[in-house]
Amino acid sequence: MSEIANPAEQSVCPKCGGSGWKIIERDGISAAGQCECIAAGRAQRIEEKSQIPPIYVNASFENFRVPQDNPTANRELGNVLTTVKTFAREFPLTTKPGLLLVGDPGTGKTHLAVAAARALIAKGFDVLFFDYQELFERIRSGYDETSGTSNREAYRQALDAEVLLLDDLGAHRYKEWVEDTINSIITYRCNNRKPLIATTNLHDEDRVPDYKVGTTVVYKKSLAEVIGLRARSRLHEMCKVVKMPAVEDYRLKKR
Ligand SMILES: Nc1ncnc2c1ncn2[C@@H]1O[C@H](COP(=O)(O)OP(=O)(O)O)[C@@H](O)[C@H]1O
Ligand SMILES: [Mg+2]
Ligand SMILES: [Zn+2]
Repeated sequence: MSEIANPAEQSVCPKCGGSGWKIIERDGISAAGQCECIAAGRAQRIEEKSQIPPIYVNASFENFRVPQDNPTANRELGNVLTTVKTFAREFPLTTKPGLLLVGDPGTGKTHLAVAAARALIAKGFDVLFFDYQELFERIRSGYDETSGTSNREAYRQALDAEVLLLDDLGAHRYKEWVEDTINSIITYRCNNRKPLIATTNLHDEDRVPDYKVGTTVVYKKSLAEVIGLRARSRLHEMCKVVKMPAVEDYRLKKR
């Protein structure tokens, strides 16, 4: 009960008088139940600790727009929005514990991933946001060359978070230890059925599609090549894969 507002610090909840408990009537029977102010307080504390970047703190399903000028994009992005919303609504009773959003930059992957994260936070789940590159920078900077040990705080957090949001998966120069480390994180979370929500703009086809810049065919790396086949396979096992449709880059459109 130490979670409850200290009247000296916060205004007292009018519903429960700050006790955290209130009488709930159901089918003519009254019983003591937990007041919503407890859940709301918990959600607020989780959100404060979630490391969601400031530019996304207001990202929600409500302010995610589907294009009105293009029927195909409207339908496809509408379906994506519905899928992600359904995932958040059903969580944790979803078929797969996680979500992987695949698509080009500016298509709204991080926005949707954060919207889902915030919906889970509102339900009381502890979500931790990590930008993929930043996670590896933090793991690496904590690595002590002389003793060969690593300050494993960021690594531990990525393993232990109740729900992990890993943004821009694979956005890193290829390094063997990155592949090993991401493989460990994904394997650990998969084995322990710990949810993961991830976004990536690497392509995720079995066959490498031709990617043209002008008339030149450019070789575009796949997710499997960057994070390794094993990690990719586990990701598919644990995540509902959502492909973003080809829509205009929202960042450029906004300008
Ligand atoms: N459909 C949309 N409706 C409203 N805002 C959007 C939409 N798609 C993207 N945005 C906004 O555009 C910016 C880029 O989107 P973001 O989710 O970061 O793209 P991605 O992660 O796919 O690169 C963000 O500020 C985001 O909130
Ligand atoms: Mg993004
Ligand atoms: Zn209350």
